[in-house]
Amino acid sequence: MKRRITSVVVGMGAIALIASTAACSSTRETTTTPAASSGAAGGLIGIAMPTKSLERWNKDGSHLEELLKKAGYETTLQYADNKVDQQITQIQNMVNQNPKVLVIASIDGKALAPVLATAKAKNIKVIAYDRLINGSENVDYYATFDNYKVGQLQGEFIKGKLANMSKPINLEPFAGSPDDNNAKFFFSGAWDVLNPLVKSGDIVVPSGKAPATNDEWTKIGIQGWGSDTAQSEMQNRLNSFYTGGKKVNVVLSPNDSLALGIAQALEGAGYKPGDTYPVLTGQDADKANVLNIIAGKQSMTVWKDTRALGDEVAKMVDQIVKGTKVDVNDEKTYDNGKKIVPTYLLAPIVVTKDDIKAKLLDSGFYKAADLGM
Ligand code: BGC
Repeated sequence: MKRRITSVVVGMGAIALIASTAACSSTRETTTTPAASSGAAGGLIGIAMPTKSLERWNKDGSHLEELLKKAGYETTLQYADNKVDQQITQIQNMVNQNPKVLVIASIDGKALAPVLATAKAKNIKVIAYDRLINGSENVDYYATFDNYKVGQLQGEFIKGKLANMSKPINLEPFAGSPDDNNAKFFFSGAWDVLNPLVKSGDIVVPSGKAPATNDEWTKIGIQGWGSDTAQSEMQNRLNSFYTGGKKVNVVLSPNDSLALGIAQALEGAGYKPGDTYPVLTGQDADKANVLNIIAGKQSMTVWKDTRALGDEVAKMVDQIVKGTKVDVNDEKTYDNGKKIVPTYLLAPIVVTKDDIKAKLLDSGFYKAADLGM
């Protein structure tokens, strides 16, 4: 497992990621939290999140903020509407306020080197949150879920379903935003499982959008992770390549925002929940998607308990500020092109209809009432 992750990471260095401003339909929303009077003792911590348009980042931001405040820190939490320039400005403003630590979930992991140089000049420590920041020496730590594993779980889930389906299977693959460092990992994890089946002929891709190698994933990347973009892409594929009664059997979706749009396109094309509804993957366990799983419109999601990530990062912040040893569990894998960033990796978990209660309710991630259960 480790060896495979390493090879993916090394591959990352060779890939020219598209550095562009993510198109996102959400409105500009920025949240600033003024200093809590009880929080001043620990100092200021800056938290930069990519967008409010996705449920998970809202949960990430508020959980981390709550933990840090409880631990006696001030926080400034900013959301950047998936706009790279906006995020850079927000981080620069944070640097100007002299925080002790910056926690950054980047939009474009390759665009932050200059602003991080200004942080370094003030000895501000930087934690890359969920997404690695590339091309900068000034990234002190990284905390994330095992991103390759996320894709691998999606690929294995699909492979498990194929056993009972008549071949060849019609599959449509999607990938995440080309500017997000994680998206390549998600795709590689899944495609390492599925591409051999494409090559053997068990799987066919009627749209022709099967990347020949993992490195071609950006060709099917959905910029900004937009549900609307994924929906129209799926509609186009269905209209153009699924005529004359041909049906899609499987859709590889890297996350829940894409799966939401894809499910809508399927519904619009007349696919109904039931035995012939395509296998559709996802990631994040967003509420709308868990409801879709219950309704039979999505097959699984890869759940990353964002509370656990927040817990780790809050601990890292405290360890950095107090000058004690910072907990990491991977000091080999995450090469950002300038250094190997010491990382704390968490394990993602598959959730299907059968274990929503055991995993999402019993853990308190959702309340039964949230899901109408
Ligand atoms: C995160 C996913 C999320 C996606 C879109 C990725 O970097 O790891 O959890 O679904 O971004 O926001």
